[in-house]
Amino acid sequence: MYLLGVKEGCGEGECGACTVLMNGKPVNSCLVLAVEADGTMIRTIEGESKNGKLNPLQESFKKHHATQCGFCTPGVIMSATSLLERNQNPDEEEIKEAIEGNFCRCTGYRQIIDAIAEAATLLESEVKK
Ligand code: FES
Ligand code: FES
Repeated sequence: MYLLGVKEGCGEGECGACTVLMNGKPVNSCLVLAVEADGTMIRTIEGESKNGKLNPLQESFKKHHATQCGFCTPGVIMSATSLLERNQNPDEEEIKEAIEGNFCRCTGYRQIIDAIAEAATLLESEVKK
């Protein structure tokens, strides 16, 4: 099975396109040696949907048109996933900080920030149920 979600942009730790979660923390996978990853829990975008169904964060990206060419999207979503697992009520500054290592050349970021903020609200209301 080929996993094609993780993108290689710069290959130098600058763009964040290759972001995955390593033991729950976002890392630029282009800078992680295989030996460093050995024995760690790696999560990529492929693990975020379940049975072909997008998760609430992914749905929110879709709703807000936070994806254009889509090259940055897997990395941005993994950074946002890490944020929302640590902080279910992030303010705009915290969202910007969480994705500051993810370059997006298409969206201007507004839609991405709005998508993450709405997903946070959805997830927070699910927790309160
Ligand atoms: S490919 Fe750009 S940070 Fe890894
Ligand atoms: S959607 Fe194209 S780089 Fe972000």
